[in-house]
Amino acid sequence: MIDLHSHILPGADDGAADLEESLEMARGAVAHGVHTVVATPHTLNGAYEHTADRVRKQTEKLQRAVEEASIELKVIPGSEVHLRPGGAARVISGESGTLNLGGRYVLVEFPFQTLYAGTDAELYQLKKENITPIIAHPERNLILQSNLKILYEYVRMGCLTQLTAMSITGELGEGAMDCAHQMLQLRLAHVIASDAHSAVGRTIRLSDAVAAAAQVTGDREGALAMVTTTPEILLKGEPYSVPEPLEAPQKKSFFKFW
Ligand SMILES: [Fe+2]
Repeated sequence: MIDLHSHILPGADDGAADLEESLEMARGAVAHGVHTVVATPHTLNGAYEHTADRVRKQTEKLQRAVEEASIELKVIPGSEVHLRPGGAARVISGESGTLNLGGRYVLVEFPFQTLYAGTDAELYQLKKENITPIIAHPERNLILQSNLKILYEYVRMGCLTQLTAMSITGELGEGAMDCAHQMLQLRLAHVIASDAHSAVGRTIRLSDAVAAAAQVTGDREGALAMVTTTPEILLKGEPYSVPEPLEAPQKKSFFKFW
């Protein structure tokens, strides 16, 4: 399996605190059947700024340490770009890292409580430059949880989405779980990743989520593709044909009982 979203770089952000913890995360990943992890430190979120070049150097350094520790894991550079206004321009200029620094796909995150005005324009700007945004854990955003129609439009625009494994299993709360399951049913989800931040708690573990996703959709092969063939295509920068999503329901009404 491939984990497309992790905070495994030592001391880079709110993920692994030091090299020891990074190596512990790497060992855990391998023990759970993961052979490749993308290091996606937060960037442009107001707390962290990680240029593509810096992530590349940090990833190379971690890869050497992983090999010295005889852990059979490949670590690939990326980033999790907080898509505030102006964020797209930083990706297009190459300053903020795309997946595998390939310039074709980029992991973007929104705030948890809200959506910035102009988010669709930022996404469109990336698409126009032939860079496909992969929206990190949309199921954890409160606005999208109550109105998946917005996400449906982003997917129709050509964006992809990444579900966080622990959202699918219910470990991040009912709101995130319900939304994740709905996304799976509506074919609005494309990749499952760990978004691991540590060696205990939010670790690199995907199989439980794959099993849970398969149960929701009844499609074991499709669920497995979300941690194998699909992320592989994205890391290679190859074109990915987006499955046609089902029309998402309109915004939930607060007056639904009336
Ligand atoms: Fe993350």
